[in-house]
Amino acid sequence: MITLHDKSFVPFISATEIATRVEELAAHFDALVSSNLQERNQPLLVLGILRGAVIFHSDLIRTCTANIEVEYLRTHSYKGLKSTGKVSIDVPPSFDVKDRHVVIVEDIVDSGLTLKTLVDLLLTKGATKVTTIVLLDKKDARTTPFTPTLVGFDIPDLFVVGYGLDYNGLGRNLPSIYQLSEL
Ligand code: IMP
Ligand code: MG
Repeated sequence: MITLHDKSFVPFISATEIATRVEELAAHFDALVSSNLQERNQPLLVLGILRGAVIFHSDLIRTCTANIEVEYLRTHSYKGLKSTGKVSIDVPPSFDVKDRHVVIVEDIVDSGLTLKTLVDLLLTKGATKVTTIVLLDKKDARTTPFTPTLVGFDIPDLFVVGYGLDYNGLGRNLPSIYQLSEL
C-alpha cells in the first residue's frame, strides 16, 4: 500500500505485466511503422501526450529501430480524481502534421474527451491518418464515443496511478500501476 497526498493506493498491474504487454504492442507498432514507410515518403510521427504518457511512450518507441519522428503535446483535463469535462491542448506554432500519419501514444482513455478532441484537431490540421495507442482503457467511463486503435489493458472505472499517471502531481515515477484503495 502507498500513500499519495490524502489517499491510499494498492497494487493493480505489476511492472512485469506492463513490460510483457508493451512487448506485445511493440509487434503491432512495428507493423504500423513498416506500412507507413511503404505508403509515404515521410516517417511515422509518434506523438506522446504530456505528462502521463511519457513513460509508456518512451518504452514503446524504444522497441523500434526503424526511422520514426517523435513529438509531444500537452493536454489538460483532470483535477484530483475527476475529469473537469473540458480539454485544453497546447500546440506550439511550429507543430506541423500536414499529410502525415500520426500515432498518438496516451496513458489512459477515460471519458474519451481528450483523445476525441485531439484526433479531430490533428485531422483539422491536415494529418492524413491518426492512430491511437493507449495503455489503459476505462471503457465504462466513456461519455464521448471513442475507440482507440490499440489498447494495453481494459480496466474497470477505477482511479489509477503509477507508470506516468498521477494523483495531483504524485505517483508518476512508480514503476507499476496502483488503484485507489476502497478502505
Ligand atoms: P479523458 O479525456 O476523460 O478520456 O481523460 C484522459 C486523461 O485524464 C488522461 O490522459 C489522464 O491524464 C487523465 N486520467 C484519466 N483517468 C485517470 C486515472 O485513473 N488516473 C490518473 N489520470 C487519469
Ligand atoms: Mg493525460
